Amino acid sequence: MGAHREQWNSRIGFFLATVGSAVGLGNVWRFPTVVVQSGGGAFVLLFLIIVLIIGVPVIIVELTLGRRAQKNIIGTFASLAPGSKWWMVGLFGLAAVFVILSFYSVIAGWAAIYFVGSLLGIFNGLATEGLTVLYGEIVGHGFLPLLSQGIFMFTTIIIVSTGITGGIERWSKLLMPGIIIILFLLLGRTLLLEGAWEGVLWFLRPDLTQVNLSVALSAVGQVFFSFSLGMGAILTYGSYLSPRENIPQSAVLIAFADVAIALLMGLVIIPSLFVFNVQPEVGPGIIFVTLPSVFNTIPGSMIWSSLFFLMLTFAALTSAVSLLEVGVAYFIDARKWSRRAATIALGTFIFILGVPSNLSQGAWANALIFGRNFLDLMDFTASSILLPLGGFFTVIFLAWVWGTDSALKELNRGTSSFMWGNAWAFVVKYIIPVAIFYIFVSGML
Ligand code: PFF
Repeated sequence: MGAHREQWNSRIGFFLATVGSAVGLGNVWRFPTVVVQSGGGAFVLLFLIIVLIIGVPVIIVELTLGRRAQKNIIGTFASLAPGSKWWMVGLFGLAAVFVILSFYSVIAGWAAIYFVGSLLGIFNGLATEGLTVLYGEIVGHGFLPLLSQGIFMFTTIIIVSTGITGGIERWSKLLMPGIIIILFLLLGRTLLLEGAWEGVLWFLRPDLTQVNLSVALSAVGQVFFSFSLGMGAILTYGSYLSPRENIPQSAVLIAFADVAIALLMGLVIIPSLFVFNVQPEVGPGIIFVTLPSVFNTIPGSMIWSSLFFLMLTFAALTSAVSLLEVGVAYFIDARKWSRRAATIALGTFIFILGVPSNLSQGAWANALIFGRNFLDLMDFTASSILLPLGGFFTVIFLAWVWGTDSALKELNRGTSSFMWGNAWAFVVKYIIPVAIFYIFVSGML
């Protein structure tokens, strides 16, 4: 079976597709939002520490498992520990896929609306208050966001149904560089605005009194979300990876690219909040209010802002594609569905699952569950529960069931010397399980 499995066409194709999965709404929308909700610089510091101690090693864990087993998220565990119950870890992954993509497509839909809106010039000349009102009208409109979510899911389905190299790899190569260029433009503009530095300091200076375990849990959740970990996306992409690839090196590069984009985005958004006096209560909408405010200070704002939201929609698309691929790979491998049937069935199911998240921003805004609206609840369930748990069990599996020795053997196929091999094995065996367990349990209490 392994012999028929598709493989990435090229090293750069794999790299860009994986970065494409990692970079998305998590960096541009979720990161600044969580920073604002969780105390600024203290959160950023925790985030960076967790990237180093948990994020990078777990990328290596998932790529190694995927490449070794050449299977989908459930099949990987089943084939490396035959006859055991470990395949059930894959169920967490699948659950996370459904939950994340259901609300992810809603927000991606907003980005797409903002693209069209910018083209039509509807944000031109509006001040912060006007933009806040307009944001509420757009996401609460009912029909428009549903339509946009539907078109977004439809496009995701089309790309995934055309397969790994033909669809995902080609699109990722095309789209990732653009967003970085526009981010730098925005950064330059923001930092020149009067009052911006106050925000930069708030973003970068850790106020340690803000650190507590629930902030740490959000930081863990953000690292997993942003790196696409804990639910099999990186593992599944690793299963299309050739033995020649140097996994540790790829992991570091992927992490670097992802963190760099998140930090850049933070540096654009947070100072803009200060300059334009946007209240963080806008919640998930902050980027949809602050960014148009910044664009409105740049000549040719319509063009820049359309381009930006177009890129954001595409960045979300390459991530959505990786999410759907996790589920699709399972139904193709294990249930023998055709790629086409699997993509259409899952995509449609996830669209329907996303409808309550969509309506929770308008018609159902008052229906709170555990104090959160439906979209927030989905996000919280995935990022703070499913992903950390999925990551925890995946790491335990590699370290204690399959064994770090077998893992190192697989890792050393693509690199003659993984210098940090022993350190990595130690971190994976002891540090990460204890850290996640501790943060998870105490963060929940
Ligand atoms: N990493 C993506 C982002 O930051 O937007 C979101 C994501 C994609 C999460 C794929 C999980 C995943 F499997």
